[in-house]
Amino acid sequence: MRRPGSKSEPVLKMPALTSRVRYGKAGLDWLRKQCPSYTSVTVLADRNTARNCYPVIRSYLPAHRLVAVPAGERSKDLAACQRVWRALVTQRADRKALLINVGGGVVCDLGGFAASTFKRGIPFIHVPTSLMAQADAAIGGKNAINLDGQKNAVGVFRGAEAVIIHDRFLETLPARQLTSGFAEVIKHALISDAGTFDRLERLDSIPPGNVLSWIRFSIRIKSAIVSADPYEQERRRVLNFGHTAGHALEAVSLGRKMKVLTHGEAVAAGMVIESHAAYRQGMITHGQLTRITSFMATHFALPAVRKQNYAGMLRHMAQDKKNIRGKMRLSLLHGIGTCRTGCVISRQEMVQALDAYNRKLNQP
Ligand SMILES: NC(=O)c1ccc[n+]([C@@H]2O[C@H](COP(=O)([O-])OP(=O)(O)OC[C@H]3O[C@@H](n4cnc5c(N)ncnc54)[C@H](O)[C@@H]3O)[C@@H](O)[C@H]2O)c1
Repeated sequence: MRRPGSKSEPVLKMPALTSRVRYGKAGLDWLRKQCPSYTSVTVLADRNTARNCYPVIRSYLPAHRLVAVPAGERSKDLAACQRVWRALVTQRADRKALLINVGGGVVCDLGGFAASTFKRGIPFIHVPTSLMAQADAAIGGKNAINLDGQKNAVGVFRGAEAVIIHDRFLETLPARQLTSGFAEVIKHALISDAGTFDRLERLDSIPPGNVLSWIRFSIRIKSAIVSADPYEQERRRVLNFGHTAGHALEAVSLGRKMKVLTHGEAVAAGMVIESHAAYRQGMITHGQLTRITSFMATHFALPAVRKQNYAGMLRHMAQDKKNIRGKMRLSLLHGIGTCRTGCVISRQEMVQALDAYNRKLNQP
């Protein structure tokens, strides 16, 4: 029997997950030059980015079709994906057609997924317009939609041809979204760079004025981790710190059981909840837990988690993609600046972490 990868049977080549990142007007000029090499161009935006960001890039593009979905997490679903596929059919898109995703993490995830599955995969370019998407979502080749309220339940790994980052887009981003997007920058510091977390603690407000340098920091950290483990066999799971609890909180909030949280707000709270779990496992000290909780409480309006929402959150956590044989596995801090994957946590330990999180919130 011939082994896959032997000389006579080449390994199927997967598209790279670490896309080329280009910045500013030079990035848009590059896009203008690239477009004629594709057979057609379709642009995906949401209604906010169609109004605020699409006009900035329209003049760089040849004739194209614009699809605008409603703004927000609820557009990361199959119905919105079908809209994109149908727009591509109307455009008579073939395998050399291009989809350009102009928007936040929702548009990047949705468009990346729609393009990766249409005709078994057409090229796509991300033009991320939120801080969350510029510092994180557009990087690393994860594309997904939600299913029945389960975050990112259906998805693929596939990299964008390019990612074009222009800080001009951030001028119209609401303040709440700017703060929220910075949560992933903080996560990148907490999991990999203690010195950078020290610097973050000295900031008066987030995001700081020089946001582009923080976006570059995030991209550098995420790209290094993704390059080492593109298909999330293990190491890449460090990027999930805060996301087991965070995704569960976000999903519960979307179910209208509490105030709807942005992804970044949910991840910020998730990082605090999971830090309580890490402390209980002896992985961080009480001093480190206090530094993390006070930093997050200073910059984010951390939501209380009502007891009646615990069961819903635990149901979501039971579906987490990191779990094996029904055991909840988290990526937890091991000190500030390092993160360990595959930490097994029982339901009871998670309930204790949630209780500790709530108690700390209620302390003056
Ligand atoms: N694939 C990944 O690796 C990855 C990583 C992190 C987050 N995500 C996903 O990203 C999503 C969150 O991304 P998000 O926080 O950008 O949310 P989002 O895409 O919903 O954008 C937030 C809001 O800001 C608006 N907006 C975006 N850019 C704007 C601009 N320049 N001007 C005015 N309004 C603008 C949007 O219309 C929306 O209302 C979640 O679904 C999350 O799961 C994916």
